[in-house]
Amino acid sequence: MLGAAVTAHWRRRQRAVLALGHAQADICNRHQLSEWASNFNPEVIINCAAFTQVDRCETERQVALEINGSAVANVVAAAQQVGARLIHISSDYVFDGTATSPYVEGTSTGPTSVYGESKLLGEVEALKYPRSLVVRASWLFGPGGANFVTTMRRLMTQGNGPLRVVDDQVGCPTYTPFLARALWDLAHIGLNGVVHYCNREAISWHGFATEIGLFVAPETKVIPVPTTEFPRPAPRPAYSVLSTSHFEATVGRRVEPWNAGLATYLQ
Ligand SMILES: NC(=O)c1ccc[n+]([C@@H]2O[C@H](COP(=O)([O-])OP(=O)(O)OC[C@H]3O[C@@H](n4cnc5c(N)ncnc54)[C@H](OP(=O)(O)O)[C@@H]3O)[C@@H](O)[C@H]2O)c1
Repeated sequence: MLGAAVTAHWRRRQRAVLALGHAQADICNRHQLSEWASNFNPEVIINCAAFTQVDRCETERQVALEINGSAVANVVAAAQQVGARLIHISSDYVFDGTATSPYVEGTSTGPTSVYGESKLLGEVEALKYPRSLVVRASWLFGPGGANFVTTMRRLMTQGNGPLRVVDDQVGCPTYTPFLARALWDLAHIGLNGVVHYCNREAISWHGFATEIGLFVAPETKVIPVPTTEFPRPAPRPAYSVLSTSHFEATVGRRVEPWNAGLATYLQ
């Protein structure tokens, strides 16, 4: 999903992009990445590849730790080989979700799921390379991928009565074309280290579903329920709000509101 948005953004800005899917470039295959790097000689490598099925990560721990964690060393090696900048995408799930104010880049991490643990391992690998930037994002939606908005739209248009959606998890939905624009800006500024990016303002899944309903099926009733009503294999952070102050000060603009992305996406 994010890879498609990044590719579209770079191409709109008339930059040559080599957009590789899983079948063409397995990040667990160092040799394959090295070949692509030497053939294309990129200035920037953006790693959007990940094992993103959070619940499956709980039962496929080794696979998660490899793809989201140790394989990032292969991406680093490819970047190092050609002197490219590396932008690696990470997640709000590296935090434990117990905070009550937005997480800044220096807040102590403490993942509570295998997915979060594996994403944190990936950050550690990426940051071994001095030309790396780790961008932590949250609650992505946009074209080309399964996401909360497409799920809600499907359920609402099927019209099977009221929807029950959790109201005790709060975060910041993020539209992938907006994130792609942010990555473009960050790549050109040349920031290294860790930065948070998400859209504003924070909202619960229930609140977000209600907003989606206004576009899709305003008559749908959306009922707030606690997380305990939907037990899942992987725990979800209750509070997942990332502070975007560092991004905004560095890039010199505010992050976009997610409802502008939602309107574009659904219309
Ligand atoms: N989605 C969210 O809400 C969210 C929130 C915060 C951060 N993030 C992070 O944002 C990034 C992009 O997420 P997304 O939502 O765009 O994910 P996505 O739609 O699931 O895309 C991930 C891609 O990685 C590919 N992939 C998996 N294993 C690979 C491997 N070994 N080598 C190469 N490619 C591989 C997948 O291909 P296959 O499908 O063929 O395996 C898929 O095309 C990820 O780093 C994710 O952790 C996502």
